[in-house]
Amino acid sequence: MSRSPERVPRGVSGARFAPAFLLLLGLAATPLGPACAAEPGRGFGLGRPATAEEIRAWDIDVRPDGRGLPEGSGTAAEGEPIFADKCASCHGDFAEGLDRWTALAGGVGTLQSDNPVRTIGSYWPYLSTAYDYIFRAMPFGNAQSLKPDEVYALIAYILLMNGIIADDRFALSNENFNSVRLPNENNFIEDNRPDTATLKDGEPCMNDCKPQVEVTMRARVLDVTPENDDNGAAKRAIE
Ligand code: HEC
Repeated sequence: MSRSPERVPRGVSGARFAPAFLLLLGLAATPLGPACAAEPGRGFGLGRPATAEEIRAWDIDVRPDGRGLPEGSGTAAEGEPIFADKCASCHGDFAEGLDRWTALAGGVGTLQSDNPVRTIGSYWPYLSTAYDYIFRAMPFGNAQSLKPDEVYALIAYILLMNGIIADDRFALSNENFNSVRLPNENNFIEDNRPDTATLKDGEPCMNDCKPQVEVTMRARVLDVTPENDDNGAAKRAIE
């Protein structure tokens, strides 16, 4: 299977940063270590254990296999008025997107075009991301205000707008959630390449990894940061 940007799942690059981030934390902690070290078994005398309620409020992730879904259900018919009230001002009445706000429906068949329209129906691999994202971040400006039944109903409505379900009385719930598969799931593949380009024969290169560093192009010439003034003049100045 050939690789194209569409096929690499979201989140892969984020996951790649994790080891480096931990390493940085480790380095930062080292000089402070002896000064701040707690006596064994006594802790730092700071803070208090998180309450079960605090942990529940923080623990909201929903995974591709459905783990983390709260109990609840909702139909597209129930979702429609909620969508009209809380989402349509940005995402359009039919989830088609307004102005530059993101479309949540449509876009099927566009992924390999010059202007791919990546929606829940055309692009996303797992429906769990819709639950996780909508509860975590939407409606924009009032995140985490939706009740589980509302989120299920909104997702059912978005599925209906994408033609993935046909019955507006189908009640999407934590129990049948995994039975709904998104059409683009199989175009996502695991990216199991090594985490770092310098990893050779299992050993990371730490010095003199490139014999010579050469500037091959400048951002201004590439025109990634277009300016109002004459780019031609800028180009000539560099050349
Ligand atoms: C005030 C405008 C606004 C409202 C209202 C709003 N959204 Fe959004 N929505 C956004 C913006 C902006 C983004 C993109 C955020 C980003 O990329 O960081 C977004 C992204 C999304 C996405 C991810 C789209 C993608 O493909 O990346 C989903 C799903 C979504 N919104 C659902 C909803 C739902 C459901 C509601 C109603 C409960 C809602 N939104 C209300 C502005 C809004």
